[in-house]
Amino acid sequence: MPAIILVGAQWGDEGKGKITDLLAAKADVVARWGGGDNAGHTVIVRGERFALHLIPSGVLHPDVECILGSGMVINPARLVEELDGLAIRGVDVSRVRVSSAAHLIMPWHIALDQAQEAARGGAKIGTTGRGIGPAYADKAARVGIRVGAMLDDAALIAAIRAHNPPAPDSDAIAQQYLKFAQILRPHIADTVLLLHQRLAAGKTILCEGAQGTLLDLDHGTYPFVTSSSPVAGGAFTGLGFGPKHVRRVIGVAKAYSTRVGAGPFPTELTDVTGDKLVEVGGEFGTTTGRRRRAGWLDAVALRYAMEVNGITELAVTKLDVLSALEEIQVCVAYRLRGRRILDMPTDAQALAECKPEYETFPGWMSDITQARTRAELPDKAQRYIEWMENEFGVPIHIISVGPERDQTIED
Ligand code: GDP
Ligand code: IMO
Ligand code: MG
Repeated sequence: MPAIILVGAQWGDEGKGKITDLLAAKADVVARWGGGDNAGHTVIVRGERFALHLIPSGVLHPDVECILGSGMVINPARLVEELDGLAIRGVDVSRVRVSSAAHLIMPWHIALDQAQEAARGGAKIGTTGRGIGPAYADKAARVGIRVGAMLDDAALIAAIRAHNPPAPDSDAIAQQYLKFAQILRPHIADTVLLLHQRLAAGKTILCEGAQGTLLDLDHGTYPFVTSSSPVAGGAFTGLGFGPKHVRRVIGVAKAYSTRVGAGPFPTELTDVTGDKLVEVGGEFGTTTGRRRRAGWLDAVALRYAMEVNGITELAVTKLDVLSALEEIQVCVAYRLRGRRILDMPTDAQALAECKPEYETFPGWMSDITQARTRAELPDKAQRYIEWMENEFGVPIHIISVGPERDQTIED
């Protein structure tokens, strides 16, 4: 069972990029299954920072094959830019494969995303403005253009011209996309076939989630969600394989919570503690630069994420950020309309009304960024991790204590 699914267990930006890069050292293939360049995955190796949006975070390992799966939406301009940016820095990008069945983000998707957000006024979702929602809407309506159209100039031009309503600048768009096609053609592949060849050869496939469980179109805090399936099940539909291959489902969770964009967030802190988490944790978006909202760990929401993903282990990130705090709180239950509840309501309105009930932990107030074993962590930090293992009923094999690849405790 050589596949591992790595999934964001909160609202995105959990540190999936860092953990993917770490685990990619032992993988043969790293594959993204959904989303597009709304994702921003940071990998830092020996002080060199890489922000990846479309290309899997395994790309810095020279022997890893990288797949952009069928469930993704691809802005070819951004993909070309990302490939070039990596190539300039000496990364061999010939190992990057894009599914011919993935959908193309077109300029009209971006314009529509931005126009829809502007029209929502005070009821904004706070999208990344990358055209993600409109591209997935066209896919579901069966009027989208797939990456495979880039293999045939005439087909691509015809598809662009056929767009309804007609784009006023469709010929200019066609010219632009033909240029992208020329560059991307060597990367376009039947990635389902490729993946099954690798599985048959006993290779290890690491499936890298984007976004997070609570942003899932079906299982997140709708309508404050993205338009794809960040949950583990999305890996199967987005890459075209089945559960029999999966051995581990790793949920990546921050030691606290953040959210970027609008929507309910019961443990959000709008006080100086929240500011401190943002400041110490550097909580500014990798894609949009927006300040993230920050708050305490929400165990109610995380228990929900454990279930909808079938998480078999957790990877906890940014534990070092909590070193700045004298006291740490964790939400263990909600109060909703006079009742104490332990299960997260997925209705956004109900969730917005939930008031957190906290359990308090003493902070350790010392630098843990040099710890490389659990035993090197202060007792109070060890207790926090043990509490999580106990609460969620799964082991924690990876604890991240800094953004660098090697600032990690792995057992
Ligand atoms: P992703 O979208 O899940 O890949 O996460 P992002 O890259 O958008 O955001 C995570 C941010 O936290 C990045 O700036 C990482 O460099 C940083 N990061 C990851 N793990 C740690 C950690 O353990 N400690 C600290 N201080 N920063 C971390
Ligand atoms: P990574 O992979 C955090 C959020 C947006 C917005 C909502 C919908 O880096 O964890 P969209 O542009 O997708 O239609 O926006 O989803 N969002 C993310 N938040 N991390 C991400 O990706 C996100 N991708 C989308 O902020 O609230
Ligand atoms: Mg991110």
